[in-house]
Amino acid sequence: MFHLSQGALLIIVAALLSAAPPPDIEQRIGALLARMTLEEKIGQMSQSTSMRTPISDQIKREIRAGRWGSFLNAGSPADRAEAQRIALTESRLGIPLVFGRDVIHGYQTIFPIPLGQSASWDPELVTQAARIAAREGTAEGIHWTFAPMLDVTRDPRWGRIAETLGEDPYLAGVLGAAMIHGFQGASLDDPGSMAACAKHYVGYGASEAGRDYNSTWIPEGLLRDVYLRPFQVARDAGVASVMTAFNALNGVPATGNRFIVRQILRDEWKFDGMVVTDYQAIPEMIQHGYALDARDAALKAMRAGVDMEMVSTTYYDHLKSLVQAGRIEMKSVDAAVRNILRLKFRLGLFDDRVRGPAPVQAPPIALDLARRLATESIVLLKNEGSVLPLAKSIGKVAVIGPLADSPVDQMGTWAMDGHAEDVQTPLGALRRTLGNDRVLYAQGLKNSRDMSRDGFAKARDAARAAEAALMFLGEEQILSGEAHSRAFLDLPGAQEALVDEIAGSGKPVVAVILAGRPLTFHQVASRVNAVLYAWHPGTMGGPAIADLLFGSAVPSGKLTITFPRTVGQVPIYYAHLNTGRPPSLGELGIPMGNPVDPQGYTSKYLDVDFTPEYPFGYGLSYATFEYSGMHVSTPKLRTGGQVAISAEVSNKGNREADEVVQLYVRALVASPSRPVRELKGFRRIHLKPGQRETVKFSITTRDLAFYNERMQLVPEPGKFQVWIAPDSVRGVEGEFTVE
Ligand code: NOJ
Repeated sequence: MFHLSQGALLIIVAALLSAAPPPDIEQRIGALLARMTLEEKIGQMSQSTSMRTPISDQIKREIRAGRWGSFLNAGSPADRAEAQRIALTESRLGIPLVFGRDVIHGYQTIFPIPLGQSASWDPELVTQAARIAAREGTAEGIHWTFAPMLDVTRDPRWGRIAETLGEDPYLAGVLGAAMIHGFQGASLDDPGSMAACAKHYVGYGASEAGRDYNSTWIPEGLLRDVYLRPFQVARDAGVASVMTAFNALNGVPATGNRFIVRQILRDEWKFDGMVVTDYQAIPEMIQHGYALDARDAALKAMRAGVDMEMVSTTYYDHLKSLVQAGRIEMKSVDAAVRNILRLKFRLGLFDDRVRGPAPVQAPPIALDLARRLATESIVLLKNEGSVLPLAKSIGKVAVIGPLADSPVDQMGTWAMDGHAEDVQTPLGALRRTLGNDRVLYAQGLKNSRDMSRDGFAKARDAARAAEAALMFLGEEQILSGEAHSRAFLDLPGAQEALVDEIAGSGKPVVAVILAGRPLTFHQVASRVNAVLYAWHPGTMGGPAIADLLFGSAVPSGKLTITFPRTVGQVPIYYAHLNTGRPPSLGELGIPMGNPVDPQGYTSKYLDVDFTPEYPFGYGLSYATFEYSGMHVSTPKLRTGGQVAISAEVSNKGNREADEVVQLYVRALVASPSRPVRELKGFRRIHLKPGQRETVKFSITTRDLAFYNERMQLVPEPGKFQVWIAPDSVRGVEGEFTVE
């Protein structure tokens, strides 16, 4: 007799439920569709951003007439409630509106920017943060967020790197799914759940030269292996919607791209959620040189399989005549409306009994989580002579720099619902930790771009009068995010000069860098004793930083993006191919910015080392972890088989601490060739001083599969290297062969 465990039964039931939506929803959609006019259908396919406070009579009339299916970033909570009441009770069919908003890394409680969150390597905390954002947002009438952003990028010039989950497709998939689970909860129709949106589909992160909205050129194998991977994971995690990107992918705008939307997302992956465009992306196909006019653009978006148009009105203006002219079949319109109504049914919007006001998470819980996530996301990059943690018994400290007390900057990009007055800055937190008298504050520069040296003397005096100087450097909020790309990655303004000034005081100097991207600060790092990279850490960034500086917490964040030595190395990423002429470590030591004789024809630079400033996966701790005892369960496995890999990780230091343990593989020979390392797993462990843990992973040959030259996802036989590692360049090594 064949027995199934309770867990297996639950998995089967869940799979059946996710494969086939409950029939009553599809029937209800069918019944509604049968009653809808073409105008009402097109209304559902249109999203507006024009709702203001108070709602104009015109918008009220339009809602009554079924002109809009959705509103974006619109109105106050009261406006949204009123608009919904009109839609439900005064429009002919009573179809509810869905309110979308950019709830990217928190609603009122702002968590670290997504790039920072990813440096925590903590899916559990990432889920909890998204859950709190969903609870806070749904309590104010938001049903749908435009997150997670799953664009893989390898270019810190791109301002939107702040919103990404780093450079690695595997990690972005795991953390993206974690966010989706947080936003969407156990069930979308829970009053505290929000529909998530995987964006920007696809390739946006590869914009040429890091310039936002620029074209992308991605061969199909790379597209499938790297750029599409996190989206496929999001699809498997049940993401409710997908947003098409602004960029052209290999010459075809993503929003009119049948290959990626219709073929891959719908036909191959069987995605039954809703596809929305990005802001005005349909008419932008005219500027792209891909559509003749707005009517042609609407036709191309429809043919690609785009359900809802964000903000622009090409669907509203042209779909009716395109249907009447026989250019678009009514069944395509119905299919799009079906996807939109399905989202509304899944959200429970038709059944207002389940969409009562959601309880908001009590603020202390949200703030505590924001503090923990910020703490885990901050990365210790340098700690010369163990200058950190500072003793709480220290005399006076100088707090210097433009970002020590800058609430808005600390929240980072996309924080429109966060309140600056809720933000706890490093200055405030340090004053609370040490008392006002022991903190000598001198801003030095008014903001990160300030070129004036007027504040330097006061800053130098503060450093001289203190036992240590804490410098809060980086970039402001407005230097990061959408349409905020940079061609220079250094600390802007006179910050480097300020560091020189303070380093000259002879006191220990700690640089805390708050930024939306990897910056280049080679010179600064060489002049200070310690560097903590804090990203834009959100509402509770200040206390998190103070905890780490004074040892109430131990740094455990690790980089999820490679830090270049200089912008000229970009794109630089860990999972690169080996080339036919790889340089050796013996070729390191090239002075920065000063060309020397290359000495050998290998793949490197004359004026900077070929390696990054800080590699992917890197981050220091106040503990010391040692890796040993690599064990690979079998030297050979067959296709379909599994191998167990383990290593011992020991805490040789005197602080208990977390360590993010990483698993990498390399296929030595493959067609096409594979990267020098690829992340395949990770675990955050906690070890007491002297404690040792055997960290175990298992890999199946399915995990080793990649797209071959015929675009088949297959594991290839051959030899593999495998590492269990503290970062992407070190670790204990083993090998196995797939037969
Ligand atoms: C444009 C951005 O690219 C997208 O990420 C965002 O969700 C929409 N605007 C809506 O604000």
